Amino acid sequence: MNSKYEPLFEPLTLPNGVQLRNRFVLAPLTHISSNDDGTISEEELPYIEKRSKDVAIAINAASNVNDIGQAFPGQPSVAHDSDIPGLKRLAAAMKKNGAKALVQIHHGGAQALTNLTPDGDAVAPSAISLKSFGQQHEHHAREITATEIEQTIKDFGEATRRVAEAGFDGVEIHGANHYLIHQFVSPYYNRRNDIWADNYKFALAVVDEVVKAKETYANEDFIVGYRLSPEEAESPGITMDITEQLVNKLCQTAIDYIHVSMMDTHAKTREGQYEGQERLPLIKRFVNGRKPIIGIGSVFTADDALDAIENVGVDLVALGREILLDPQFIDKIKQGREQDIVNYFDPQREDLHQLTPKLWEQFNKGFYPVPRKDK
Ligand SMILES: Cc1cc2nc3c(=O)[nH]c(=O)nc-3n(C[C@H](O)[C@H](O)[C@H](O)COP(=O)(O)O)c2cc1C
Repeated sequence: MNSKYEPLFEPLTLPNGVQLRNRFVLAPLTHISSNDDGTISEEELPYIEKRSKDVAIAINAASNVNDIGQAFPGQPSVAHDSDIPGLKRLAAAMKKNGAKALVQIHHGGAQALTNLTPDGDAVAPSAISLKSFGQQHEHHAREITATEIEQTIKDFGEATRRVAEAGFDGVEIHGANHYLIHQFVSPYYNRRNDIWADNYKFALAVVDEVVKAKETYANEDFIVGYRLSPEEAESPGITMDITEQLVNKLCQTAIDYIHVSMMDTHAKTREGQYEGQERLPLIKRFVNGRKPIIGIGSVFTADDALDAIENVGVDLVALGREILLDPQFIDKIKQGREQDIVNYFDPQREDLHQLTPKLWEQFNKGFYPVPRKDK
């Protein structure tokens, strides 16, 4: 290995005392490849095993905590005890080569797909119509009741219990990307007049319930992370001021890291007092050493990864599209073969990328923006 990449392979200790072997994280990546009933399929096991092999933390795709929260076809479910046998196999595949295996616990909220949810129902902080994953037409989501909110918080706790029982090393709370928890934080989605109008209340109640579930069903080693989106395009939406307050509140909880969901590690703040400043160094300033930060976004080369750690200053760097394109991304850096990393999609080379058939089809159709060999 080229010695300049050594900082990427330094261990890191999380607040709960767990030692991570390096600075790489497998980002949560929806693969639409679980069985129709949300149980784990045969095809997702080798796919995830390959991508978990060299990272410190491997996070499985967003997994719905209850049936009304399902936002993708082929989404893994953590909503039922009957999901546990499959989840045990998934945990074993992800942990096989030494990674800490986490499940991203998720509720789609307004973005749940009404063709998949019971009675075609979808709930959101406030009523809204929108288009979601792969939809041609808008669907309607009604306002979630206070009783349903209480139940949903419990569902996140129950999901955490199942994840612990299945042998995973932790959970990541999906508070990002316009799904339910994000929707409660966002003034665009949350126009309530009751106690849940407070932008932070639902997110913190979920954290509290998950931490309680950890204390009851797991041990100190169990990792609890939180993923957030620092800003949104909608107006009035999540701003860096809201994120600053959320981060401050999260730093006072027992979580073990904050994961900032972005498409570019150098993305800049859109508006407000911090306009034009890079988001990740700002968030680092807000966190002020209280929690480790995971950064992500367009890390397509070994040098991009090093830049995220050394210049942007995040503690851990997550890989999304690039570890989909090349499951050997990290291994190639270790072997001094970083120039061989595949960072484009080649529609002629299914063998090169080793995706699940459904994910391959999505990449081939151009569903996700990635550099392509044929363009
Ligand atoms: C195929 C695909 C599936 C994704 N699924 C999830 C998901 O389940 N949960 C999530 O928080 N983000 C999801 N994302 C966002 C990624 O985790 C990541 O934030 C984004 O791709 C930017 O990182 P990258 O530049 O490394 O790809 C997904 C992205 C892609 C391309």
